[in-house]
Amino acid sequence: MPASSASMQRIHVLEIESMLRVEYAGQPTRPFSFHNEMYSGIKLFSGTSHPTLASEISAYLGVPLSGRDILKFPNENIFVQLHESVRGQDVYLIQTMSPPVNDNIMELLIALDCLRRDSAGRITVVVPYFAYARSDKKDQPRVPITARLLADILTTAGADRYIMVDLHAGQIQGFFSVPGDELTAFHLLSDYFVTRDIPDSVVVTNDLGFAKKARNFASKLKRPLALVEKRRTKNDARSEVLSVIGEVEGQNCIIVDDEISTAGSVQNTVNLLRTQGAKDIYVCATHAAFCGPAVERLRSLPIKEIVVTNTIPVPPDQMLPNLKVLSVGPLLGEVIRRVHEGRSVGALFNE
Ligand code: R5P
Repeated sequence: MPASSASMQRIHVLEIESMLRVEYAGQPTRPFSFHNEMYSGIKLFSGTSHPTLASEISAYLGVPLSGRDILKFPNENIFVQLHESVRGQDVYLIQTMSPPVNDNIMELLIALDCLRRDSAGRITVVVPYFAYARSDKKDQPRVPITARLLADILTTAGADRYIMVDLHAGQIQGFFSVPGDELTAFHLLSDYFVTRDIPDSVVVTNDLGFAKKARNFASKLKRPLALVEKRRTKNDARSEVLSVIGEVEGQNCIIVDDEISTAGSVQNTVNLLRTQGAKDIYVCATHAAFCGPAVERLRSLPIKEIVVTNTIPVPPDQMLPNLKVLSVGPLLGEVIRRVHEGRSVGALFNE
């Protein structure tokens, strides 16, 4: 199909030149001076899901985003064309799985196929938010394990490695037959609250499955941990909280979670904490997967501050006055640098 066809609908055109001028606040663009002798160079590509984050990563590394066209035909078929050769290169393809989730996944798969067929030396998918992660087991009869399916199709399409942030469950790493790095953004969130130094505070998790991560978070803040027991309805869409284990009366509470989706869990937890005599309430999560009633719920709740990261773009109409967005751009940039150089990623997290 000719890329120049007048019938094509252009869904996104990255302004490559303006991207090169973007600098991540507080992080000077560094000259690109690192190399890996196995590959003829490094290349960064991005899909259309999160151009701002892609620019931040590019600015951190001092590596320009390579040009490409991504087009959608009137029949909704997606077309990708690279502007330059990737033969023998170490390629990083940045695409988060934010809404429109399925379009963004399809675009990622097609871009992977494109890179593979152009003989890239190695392809790493950089997926800050991995969708379908809650579908990770057969916990009801006759249901799929879509996270596994997604891992399979990413590798079939050409991914040699992956870089992701705070997977819903660590075990999802095992769905991939290729190596990868699951990073955590909890250091960013906990560093933020260490700086805030909120007196008389307690860390609260509303997910017992998240208790270990919440415990680490609380240790970093040198604060106690309280647990809120939550139960989900059969279709996983609604949650109800049952009780709180730990002392929250007269305390400032910092609710920590991996993602905020409909904000139903946050709503129930905030309401329960208030009835138990909590003072100020803060909420933090890696993924701002705001959907459905999330923004209205968050707007109406008595929350002092909501802190998230930009693994998913937060559009202007979701930017609540008490919402703070921390960037994972430098983290992803540094990990790409280390993967390319064959250096430890764990060392970044003191592992
Ligand atoms: C669930 O297991 C997760 O840790 C989050 O609590 C959940 O994704 C939040 O969903 P929602 O905001 O729809 O309650």
